[in-house]
Amino acid sequence: MTKVLFVCLGNICRSPTADAVFKKMVAEAGLEDLISVDSAGTGSWHIGHPPDRRATVAAAQRGYDLSLLRARQIVKEDFSQFDHILAMDAQNLADLNAMCPPGRNEKVRLFLDYAPEAGLTDVPDPYYGGEDSFDHVLDLVESAAAGLLNQLNQHR
Ligand code: 4NP
Repeated sequence: MTKVLFVCLGNICRSPTADAVFKKMVAEAGLEDLISVDSAGTGSWHIGHPPDRRATVAAAQRGYDLSLLRARQIVKEDFSQFDHILAMDAQNLADLNAMCPPGRNEKVRLFLDYAPEAGLTDVPDPYYGGEDSFDHVLDLVESAAAGLLNQLNQHR
């Protein structure tokens, strides 16, 4: 089993979106027994909360279900539990690297490394943005999720 964890700041906008998009791709590829997917936030404000309504609505318009997800904060054990820990932006990456036990940093990467065609390193935080920012998140997440699945398939 390959275990993938998506991480943003609040775990209510970007990483739940990545979680739902990638889960759907994995299911459609028939790989649910081989790839598991989860998400977490570096911050603690939203622990136990459902995803942001705007993220839920934008995702639903593309056929992704965020409604059952609940926010949690990253914990030390995640660095041993997961094989790939993918940060939505450079600040998330820095925060993850700062708490990562020695020798496990190679698991921690920027999610958009898997979408070089996007020409961005960060999935911009949509929390204070308009409705468009949630669609932009979805565009970037769909690209990187496809790249990630390709990469995992090549290494199987
Ligand atoms: P996320 O967005 O990191 O994509 O879940 C945010 C959600 C909440 C906050 C910031 C970003 N906040 O400051 O509460």
